[in-house]
Amino acid sequence: MYHWWQIGTLYQVYPRSFQDSNGDGIGDLDGIRQRLDYLVWLGIDAIWISPIYPSPMHDFGYDVADYCGIDPVFGSLESFDRLIDEAHTKKLKVILDFVPNHTSIAHHWFIASRRSRTDPKRDWYIWRDPAQGGGPPNNWISNFGGSAWTWDKSTGQYYYHAYLAEQPDLNWRNRDMRAAMHEALRFWLRRGVDGFRVDVMWHLIKDAAFRDNPPDPTWTVHDPEIDRVFQTYSTDQPEVHEVIAGMRQVVEEFENRVLIGEIYLPVEKLVAYYGKNLMGAHLPFNFQLLSTPWAAPHIGALVERYEAVLPAGAWPNWVLSNHDRPRIAARVGPEQARVAVMLLLTLRGTPTLYYGDELGIGHVEIAPDVIRDPWAKREPGLGIGRDPSRTPMQWDGSAFAGFSMHDPWLPLTFDYQARNVAAMSIDETSILFLVRSLLHYRRQHTSLSHGEWRLLSRNSSILAYQRHHGDNRIIVVLNYTADQQAWFVNTATKVRVAISTHGDRRGEPVLSTLRLRANEGLLLEPA
Ligand code: NOJ
Ligand code: CA
Repeated sequence: MYHWWQIGTLYQVYPRSFQDSNGDGIGDLDGIRQRLDYLVWLGIDAIWISPIYPSPMHDFGYDVADYCGIDPVFGSLESFDRLIDEAHTKKLKVILDFVPNHTSIAHHWFIASRRSRTDPKRDWYIWRDPAQGGGPPNNWISNFGGSAWTWDKSTGQYYYHAYLAEQPDLNWRNRDMRAAMHEALRFWLRRGVDGFRVDVMWHLIKDAAFRDNPPDPTWTVHDPEIDRVFQTYSTDQPEVHEVIAGMRQVVEEFENRVLIGEIYLPVEKLVAYYGKNLMGAHLPFNFQLLSTPWAAPHIGALVERYEAVLPAGAWPNWVLSNHDRPRIAARVGPEQARVAVMLLLTLRGTPTLYYGDELGIGHVEIAPDVIRDPWAKREPGLGIGRDPSRTPMQWDGSAFAGFSMHDPWLPLTFDYQARNVAAMSIDETSILFLVRSLLHYRRQHTSLSHGEWRLLSRNSSILAYQRHHGDNRIIVVLNYTADQQAWFVNTATKVRVAISTHGDRRGEPVLSTLRLRANEGLLLEPA
């Protein structure tokens, strides 16, 4: 018996950028609801929506002012309920983004906490005295640059923030705060949400003694400031697993829900987040594809390593891009983006597809005066800006791409008149068509949705693997180069092409030598 979150495909919606329903240039919940039929057509199973809670939007919703509401820019609790209802009617699950590591400074908990040292909520956040001799309590750095400590004049202490000063970190060692957070989870679970993606899950507990982080000697001024030190004491502390187990317990009070963790760690450390007896996150996000060099030997080694370290019974998952990292087509180019989606949708484990990647949205130039990302504003010139990955979904070739009736909050791509759903959904050679074919094929073949994975071969250019489940067996051959390649088919049964990344060759019989065109991936099935 497999769960929906194992055999299904997740799709991340960045709500500001999916569909604007009221012409303010910002996407909203009614907009998402209007586009559910597209998601059904595409063949995805669940949407994860980045934060929609009331927020001053210093970090576009990752600064939550109320865990149990909806920001008016996105709609209301009524529009949320309507979205859940309609999604469920269409057999789509809805996963919310839960941001438990920090709140907004505008959250009433923090307002109380900073009021006085004796306020009952003081301990819900992380307050420390200055270091001996003055200055911040230790050398920890904000992920968005600068010290992670901000001085509060009126109470004479520093508070800790792993991100902006407007995002104070909560103290997960405090039991009352934990209980309040669990209630917030129940609030949404009762409303019918199918699970959570938990923001920066590996950050939740910090070293009890707040020791200095060790410096990274390889850091240069061209790197983000956060990389000056290793995050030895500020993240991934052993006590975090008990906190996650607590959240999992709450999720377990309800049937058929999922807990996903955002965790940027090497796979050996990542797998600890499945938890003791697998009672941690169902899916600790596997982000390795975001940073592994895009070449057959590296990707092959990565998949083997991940498969090898997964604990018994743990379910794998793969992510290709998200709202924090460059889009896949921007990183590997438009041709390899097709190989990338074939990889994502044919590996073993739950795939997460980022909205717009099915259109192959690539590089978007963001002029300096329209930069919105707070990190890009704080550390200009490093090329770390996240706006290019957050531009509006492109639905058609009309002004504003069918996203809005007015200027969108971020620009469209230069090629949106061709790169949009309306144009690409009727073009059998488009990447959109490819994604849809792969998703539908995946649904129809148990070898893909839950079969075993076995490496067939990898060399400097090609990665080939097999997926099988009982008699159901398919082969995937991916050419990571811009040259033609040949691959020797070593199988007793006859095979034929089921899907090519180029949109043709369907049904073509495969002889002993398989020829791949430049940047071509092929899915082969028994003939
Ligand atoms: C990770 C989120 O994905 C990112 O967008 C955000 O800025 C930080 N966490 C802080 O919440
Ligand atoms: Ca709107």
